[in-house]
Amino acid sequence: MPDATQLPDLAGKRLLLVISGGIAAYKALELIRLMRKSGASVRAVLTKAGAEFVTPLSVGALTEDKVYTDLFSLTDEAEMGHIRLSREADLIVVAPATADLLAKMAQGLADDIASTTLLAGDKTVLVAPAMNYRMWEHPATVANLATLESRGVLRVGPEPGPMACGEFGTGRMAEPADILQAVASFFTSTAVGGRLKGRRVLVTSGPTREAIDPVRFISNHSSGKQGHAIAAAFAKQGAETILVTGPTVEPVPAGVAVVRVESAEDMLNACLKSLPVDVAVCAAAVGDWRVAKPSAKKIKKRGDETLELKLTQTPDILKTLSKKGPKRPRLVVGFALETDDLMKNAAAKLKSKGCDWIVANAAAQDGSVFGSDYNSVSLVSAEGTQSWPRVTKQDVGQRLAAAAADTLSAPTNPSRKIGAA
Ligand code: C5P
Repeated sequence: MPDATQLPDLAGKRLLLVISGGIAAYKALELIRLMRKSGASVRAVLTKAGAEFVTPLSVGALTEDKVYTDLFSLTDEAEMGHIRLSREADLIVVAPATADLLAKMAQGLADDIASTTLLAGDKTVLVAPAMNYRMWEHPATVANLATLESRGVLRVGPEPGPMACGEFGTGRMAEPADILQAVASFFTSTAVGGRLKGRRVLVTSGPTREAIDPVRFISNHSSGKQGHAIAAAFAKQGAETILVTGPTVEPVPAGVAVVRVESAEDMLNACLKSLPVDVAVCAAAVGDWRVAKPSAKKIKKRGDETLELKLTQTPDILKTLSKKGPKRPRLVVGFALETDDLMKNAAAKLKSKGCDWIVANAAAQDGSVFGSDYNSVSLVSAEGTQSWPRVTKQDVGQRLAAAAADTLSAPTNPSRKIGAA
């Protein structure tokens, strides 16, 4: 049990604690005590089954607030509707979360004050499941949890150990101190986010496709993983993020506005339309060449051994966005994928494109950067280089978003800000 000096600082945080019916409900009392000791205010919702294990009186004594137990109570509804209950909280904690309540949450049922409050809620929910181990392992519970987690519901526990029913397995509710830590981590993770609130960011991603005829095109192996991870990281920091992407199967990250394009020219137009932005990150593998005159009809084999296609250069989006002018983003970032002389070429690219930073990427001879979850990159600016060896593509996104946030909060030229390493 944490002593007061180890307690996280939750001063000013408003927690809504939903206590559903299970033997672990008794631990909710200790949880309330710890939450209050950490400085949070706690408002409790107690389900009918929960009230079989702990009394509203003991819960209310610890929260020093009214305990909400009955959806149809006229006084409750007059004083505080179930809608307001969640709106006036910073985080909703469900502890214990029974298999039944998790199922209701997954299905969107709303037949009592707890499920109604959860369905009407607009806040992040942290669940601390507690149930018999067979219930925990049941495919129905597994599926319900997967549904909830895909919607962003956070979870702590359950733990393995002896169960109140005499059996042994995973299903014990996490200890109150661990639930408290999970609450604290939620607030820490959201506090470090939001550094780019009020900023607009453009990210290009994926390959482009240049038509040869109505059924054929020239493209490349880009998966869009890196660009999408960058967009996700910027959005997580609170930036209004526009992702202009070529064809890819990568899922669109949460909170990102997507514009789907095919050709380099379409991509350029979509990027120009999205201006003004504070930051532009050109992570797309834009095709360098397009067919000068794509055929309007499918090109037929006519016994010829060869087919000649005349190619012409596509517009350079990175270069266009980097041009000096009133609409130039404050920070323009390009990528360099090179098979040799990486740093030399990256420095040359910085100049030729006119951008502020280049993320230099060594292409493996077998092309394994494409589609991989890992990357080894260097961030190059006029002032210096930072190396990020073997990091995940998510990491690259997070580091880039953090570096951009540092730069935008500083008054000087972006190229000065990444520092030599
Ligand atoms: O010239 P190169 O293709 O090596 O440059 C790579 C960088 O330039 C990447 O950031 C890529 O997104 C960008 N680029 C672009 N438009 C092009 C070609 C490359 O934005 N037509």
